[in-house]
Amino acid sequence: MVLSKDSLKIEKEQDVVLFRNRVKELAVKIGMSLLGQTKLITAASELARNMLKYAGGGTVTLEVVSANRTTGVRLTFEDKGPGIPDLGLAMQDGYSTAKSLGLGLPGAKRLVNEFDIKSTVGEGTTVTITRWKNAV
Ligand SMILES: Nc1ncnc2c1ncn2[C@@H]1O[C@H](COP(=O)(O)OP(=O)(O)OP(=O)(O)O)[C@@H](O)[C@H]1O
Ligand SMILES: [Mg+2]
Repeated sequence: MVLSKDSLKIEKEQDVVLFRNRVKELAVKIGMSLLGQTKLITAASELARNMLKYAGGGTVTLEVVSANRTTGVRLTFEDKGPGIPDLGLAMQDGYSTAKSLGLGLPGAKRLVNEFDIKSTVGEGTTVTITRWKNAV
């Protein structure tokens, strides 16, 4: 069940800062632990940066969701960039087309409880992550 829903455009670096603050606010509001908050915000930053870097920006939807007597924060990153040709490769540690660390996507996946990525070349990429309040 969706308890609240909001969206934000990510078009420049400052938007990422604003976005991080919004994520933090939601996590605090639902009573997520400090470690949980940090994990969620770190994953969120990586995905927002990817959107800026590879797709020139996009939109993030921020939701507070509830399921099975718990609450969580769900974030959906949607861009209309070039898309990712090989998701299996992109999800591997160390794979980068930008000579960077290649840890953004696989790292983000490890920091959250649910991770879903869909991408179509020439159309764009959508990543959805959820972190539950009481998760480890
Ligand atoms: N939103 C996106 N649109 C298009 N390509 C993307 C997107 N996000 C990631 N990619 C591709 O997937 C690769 C892996 O992404 P990942 O975030 O894991 O590593 P990176 O951005 O290259 O390095 P790092 O995040 O560690 O600095 C990127 O190099 C890029 O080719
Ligand atoms: Mg990255």
